[in-house]
Amino acid sequence: MTKLLELKNISLYNQENTRVKDINLSINKGEKIAIIGKSGSGKSTLISIANGSIAPTEGNVIWKGLNINNISNIESSKIGTIWQDLSLIEELNVAQNINCGALGKHSFIWALKNLLGILDKNLCQECLAAVSLPKKTIYSYINKLSGGQKQRIAIARLLRQEPEIVLGDEPFSNLDPLLSKNILNLFISRKNYHSIKIPETIIFSLHQINLINNFNRVIGLKDGQIVLDRAIHNINQSKIDSLF
Ligand SMILES: Nc1ncnc2c1ncn2[C@@H]1O[C@H](COP(=O)(O)OP(=O)(O)OP(=O)(O)O)[C@@H](O)[C@H]1O
Ligand SMILES: [Mg+2]
Repeated sequence: MTKLLELKNISLYNQENTRVKDINLSINKGEKIAIIGKSGSGKSTLISIANGSIAPTEGNVIWKGLNINNISNIESSKIGTIWQDLSLIEELNVAQNINCGALGKHSFIWALKNLLGILDKNLCQECLAAVSLPKKTIYSYINKLSGGQKQRIAIARLLRQEPEIVLGDEPFSNLDPLLSKNILNLFISRKNYHSIKIPETIIFSLHQINLINNFNRVIGLKDGQIVLDRAIHNINQSKIDSLF
């Protein structure tokens, strides 16, 4: 098994509160992991530490054997995040937002051209099709879209990035049950979508407990600590109930 991401003895706290405590986690290539836990249990904090955007007070995050603080931009673009707040750029159109996913693969000039017009139209439209949005959506502006459409643009941008691992923070929170199931299935079955390579390793925080059966490992957080980390076949309802 190839270890991709490791969190070693991670804690994040200050004088006011402790957000996560004594987190030890090792994620192997190909794993499909669901993180569950009450609101405030630390799911978003854990994801932000795991992708290197928040530095822990204690402990280290290791990406393929290297401290995440020391990896190159190319390596860091292999870690994709679907943020809980989506982090879309309202002033740009959908194609420009989706192409932001590919910034790590391109030059500064390409990034500037992306601000001026529609680049790589076909690839953007394939990413849209993968999240069940029509091709013409590329021309829309973010502030004219519904919450669920915006969430799917954030997922389309992630697909455009083609990372090796996806850290998804409630990626389906604004989607109806059928869309949630279909998009999750895209990541689980990894039927490559035309020219887009679907990432192999996923770790998604979720409130829709009914979706966890699609994953092969479940991590339960309570008060900032991992209190459950088991293969899906070792999870039962009482273990889930104990988290809430
Ligand atoms: N920026 C911040 N500064 C200080 N404390 C924070 C900050 N963000 C979150 N917290 C606290 O850290 C704890 C964990 O929050 P976190 O956002 O990780 O929870 P969560 O499990 O993602 O919740 P939700 O399901 O509501 O998204 C909570 O007690 C929260 O109040
Ligand atoms: Mg959260």
